[in-house]
Amino acid sequence: MNSTAVQSVALPPLRWGIIGGGLMGREFASALGRWFALTDPDLPDARLIAVCDTSEPAREWFQRVPTVEQITDDADEVFNNPNVDAVYIALPHHLHRDFYLRALEAGKDVLAEKPFGVDLQAAREVRDAAKRLGRFVRVSSEIPFWPGAQRIWHELSENLDTLGRILEVRAGFYHSSDLDPQKPANWKRQNAFCGEAGAMNDLGMHVAHIPLRLGWKPSRVYAQLQHGFPTRPDGRGGEVVCDTWDNAVLSCDVSIAGEDVPMCWECKRMAPGHMNTWSLEVLGTSGGWRFSTQTPKTLYRFDRGREQSWSAIDLGYAGAFSAVTGGIFEFGFADTLLQMLASFACERAGTLNGRFGMATPDEAVASHEVWQAALRSQQEKRAVEVG
Ligand SMILES: NC(=O)c1ccc[n+]([C@@H]2O[C@H](COP(=O)([O-])OP(=O)(O)OC[C@H]3O[C@@H](n4cnc5c(N)ncnc54)[C@H](O)[C@@H]3O)[C@@H](O)[C@H]2O)c1
Repeated sequence: MNSTAVQSVALPPLRWGIIGGGLMGREFASALGRWFALTDPDLPDARLIAVCDTSEPAREWFQRVPTVEQITDDADEVFNNPNVDAVYIALPHHLHRDFYLRALEAGKDVLAEKPFGVDLQAAREVRDAAKRLGRFVRVSSEIPFWPGAQRIWHELSENLDTLGRILEVRAGFYHSSDLDPQKPANWKRQNAFCGEAGAMNDLGMHVAHIPLRLGWKPSRVYAQLQHGFPTRPDGRGGEVVCDTWDNAVLSCDVSIAGEDVPMCWECKRMAPGHMNTWSLEVLGTSGGWRFSTQTPKTLYRFDRGREQSWSAIDLGYAGAFSAVTGGIFEFGFADTLLQMLASFACERAGTLNGRFGMATPDEAVASHEVWQAALRSQQEKRAVEVG
């Protein structure tokens, strides 16, 4: 009987463990469950085989994943499992440093969650350990895998000069659930667990990923940070203090093609009307690009010809990694995760072939350098150089 080519016969499979089976651990497992939908010939097979969470209900959920062989409340059992090649660690931020270092020292490659440590020092320690130990480490930031964002990245990296002189860059990530003062608090609303950078720790890697990949690291930042509601219900009849910065507006200086350009980065948990809106806009004297997940199918292009115009381009399922999904079909959040995991697997296997890679430890450290400067700027009410 003739058989059709199967995925990645030549590449060894990538066997995953998860540490932290909460919101993102379950999303990760669900994305891996659709791995067979990817048809990219450069992709290794991948499956989830081990899970650790200290919460019993969280562990129970993973019983439904047929490939899982190990479910435990002890992360070291996963780190010491010789069949696990890489771990996805999705824990509260104050635990990142310790668990990332333990995974690296146990010889695992790591898909780290943002913000890659609770603060700059933690991020630098993990970045340095990964280098020293020679492990492959990438940081989660799936939103730039939307086709509209990918197209902008491609155009800006290949054809920046067609935009003329760059006039401004705006990037942002906007949530609104914190507008409701009755929304119960979770660990993300407290500095002790989320980190002092608050909404920047939470949302900032998605905002910074493409600009940093283009080499657009801010040199100086003026930050306006706002707190959310000072207390929230704790979900058990009481109230807890919420001390994180909820909204961050960073006015940055960046050098693009030898010119100083204003760049605005926004991370907001209190943005009226926005559910999970990520947007990027780059405008030049001759052209520009704008993409927002509020209109997720559509990419906007500005042209200054005889007349100025904005055109709307419908993109369909234009992921960088091919899939069975028809090109005319809509792309969604779950697809961004699948594409991001494909990027991790290919880059680790050496088959990324110029496609968009996940955020690197150096980029995560660079983002923390910006957040640290922003915190100082807020405190001192002045623009601060980024370290
Ligand atoms: N990429 C994204 O779009 C995105 C979205 C949300 C959150 N995140 C990030 O993912 C990470 C986790 O966030 P979340 O929303 O999934 O949190 P969550 O609170 O839903 O899940 C965290 C899980 O970790 C478990 N846990 C806590 N301590 C543990 C320990 N010592 N050992 C094992 N398990 C432990 C908890 O029981 C919980 O199930 C954070 O870094 C967050 O910033 C990323």
